[in-house]
Amino acid sequence: MKAEIIVAENSGFCFGVDRAVKIVYNILREGKKVVTYGEIIHNRDVTEELAAKGVRIADTPEELSALTEETVVIRSHGAGKDIFRLLEEKGMEYRDGTCPFVRRIQKIVEEKSAAGYDIIIMGDENHPEVRGIASYCHNIPKILKDDTLLYSYLKKFYKNSEKKVAIVAQTTYNINIWDKCTRTAKEICPGAEIINTVCSATSDRQEAAARLARTADLMVIVGGKHSSNTVKLAEVCGEYCKACVHVENAGGLDFRYIESLVRNNVREKFIVGITAGASAPAHIIKEVTNQMSEKLQNMEEDFNFEEALDASFKKIYTGQRVKGYITAVNDAEAIVDVGTKHTGYVSLDELTDDPSLKPADVVKPGDEVELIVIKVNDAEGIVTLSKKKVDAMIGFDKIVKAKEEDAVLEGTVSSVVKGGVIIFYEGTRVFIPASQATARRDEKLEELVKKTVKFKIIEVNEQRGKAVGSIRIVLNAEKDAAKAKFWDTVQIGDVFKGEVKSLTNYGAFVDLGGIDGMVHISELSWNRIKHPSEVVKAGDVIEVYVKDLDKEADRISLGYKKTEDNPWVKFDENYSVGDVVKAKVVSITPFGAFAQIVPGIDGLIHISQLAENRVANVKDVLSIGDEVEAKITEIDIEKKRISISIRALIEEQGGAAESGEASE
Ligand code: F3S
Repeated sequence: MKAEIIVAENSGFCFGVDRAVKIVYNILREGKKVVTYGEIIHNRDVTEELAAKGVRIADTPEELSALTEETVVIRSHGAGKDIFRLLEEKGMEYRDGTCPFVRRIQKIVEEKSAAGYDIIIMGDENHPEVRGIASYCHNIPKILKDDTLLYSYLKKFYKNSEKKVAIVAQTTYNINIWDKCTRTAKEICPGAEIINTVCSATSDRQEAAARLARTADLMVIVGGKHSSNTVKLAEVCGEYCKACVHVENAGGLDFRYIESLVRNNVREKFIVGITAGASAPAHIIKEVTNQMSEKLQNMEEDFNFEEALDASFKKIYTGQRVKGYITAVNDAEAIVDVGTKHTGYVSLDELTDDPSLKPADVVKPGDEVELIVIKVNDAEGIVTLSKKKVDAMIGFDKIVKAKEEDAVLEGTVSSVVKGGVIIFYEGTRVFIPASQATARRDEKLEELVKKTVKFKIIEVNEQRGKAVGSIRIVLNAEKDAAKAKFWDTVQIGDVFKGEVKSLTNYGAFVDLGGIDGMVHISELSWNRIKHPSEVVKAGDVIEVYVKDLDKEADRISLGYKKTEDNPWVKFDENYSVGDVVKAKVVSITPFGAFAQIVPGIDGLIHISQLAENRVANVKDVLSIGDEVEAKITEIDIEKKRISISIRALIEEQGGAAESGEASE
């Protein structure tokens, strides 16, 4: 922390004050007693120094009248005409220390008022200089404090008036206000005679002080508290510098206040500007400057030590990722030690997005947590942090890594949005387009909500913190893996349980666990069926076996009907040649009729076996749906051929009847 002191140009004793003080010292050197009419200057240090040398002060004409041997000195402000008259009448020795610039104003108002001008004096009506100037007027002057009062006064009495008016100012009048007065007078009363009587020493001092005040962090104005020019100097400085102190000497400096300014200074250098009123002697300005310099140097060393101490702490800044330890948890926040001199706070809404949780549900004292700095308040020693933002960043880092590594992630689908679904993966929102959300396009997105799914990241925008994922890629990969495994291990005859996925006219597709096989319609039932839906429906879980494999064509033929249900087997077990069966005619051909003996087994009744006599046309004796009794005449299981005969049964029954009659 660097500090610099700059003393403004034109500070301290002006020509007029210097002249008056020298007059006093010259008289003292002559060995004479001195009485000043009023304080020679408004500076306690100077007046006390003079008092110590025997210089006394007379404040009233009466006190002056009582003097006998002293030499009277009129100060630089000058005095009223009556005082000079008194001194002359009494024959008293006096020296006139009236500043020539003040004397000039006295002459102006004297002459102008004699010439019939009304006189307006801009200044402090109670100031001795102004009172003295007023005494030189041949009429009663108007004394006004500022441009606002001047505006009202001119407007009321001089606007559009023939009256002559001259406007002057106290020598130490504020130059900025004087400029406004000039503009106001020219606007309302163009004929007014405006005479700038502000002392150049005053205006030069004010301008130099204003220049310095623009760049200073602190302005110290040195001079008497009752010194008009010093008070005005402080006013001017106050317009440009936020921190101004008016002191009579070094003892008036409040270093605690100054230190607080230095501490809160945000600039690289702390600049102290020093200016002094006309009544401030050089040695007082020097004393103020020296003390200020010494104190600032001490502060500089202290601050350098503090800076060194600060440097021993970790630096912390907004946006930084830091690790900290939870030191305490309350209902509203967690308090964290982040290894700096700050106290860290993580509010509940920066701990978690879950409204059902309290801080204690998320962290506990002693936990090491990673956080991000949201705000640093060095003045109060507080740092505001967020855990959830870091969690999201960590989550996003994982997402970026997962994309790079083509890794499979797992997350729960939280909602369906326009064009897809959303998964929050460790605090990061991952958008899954509808085309990437399911294995098949006809699946409903709503059914994914609240389901835990596997997905891959297919796109990442690191700048915008956005990620796009795909569930379908994972599903397809799983399917491919299952297929590969299936083909590696599958053998004809293997039995699987699978879900019927879809039906066609020629069969049913069954999911064997990532790979589909097909049961041909002929393999669904031992009976003749017209459509697979007569046996199974989509969603049914059925047991199938592998009938045939074609890896190159990626074709798996499945069987569904079982051997033990095979009607030929059952028929072979239960029927023999010669058995009489009841059968139902199911079809008629030119050479005979087929009749179902048991489900799945039809027997052929040849046209020659329909009756005892010759039949010309099958339909003459049989119709579909007729039930007939016939005798099994041939069984060929291998060729799946059964022959039955009505004629054979009739003949057998006729033969039996004949042999019965013969025995009787
Ligand atoms: Fe004279 Fe100007 Fe000083 S009027 S007393 S030189 S401020």
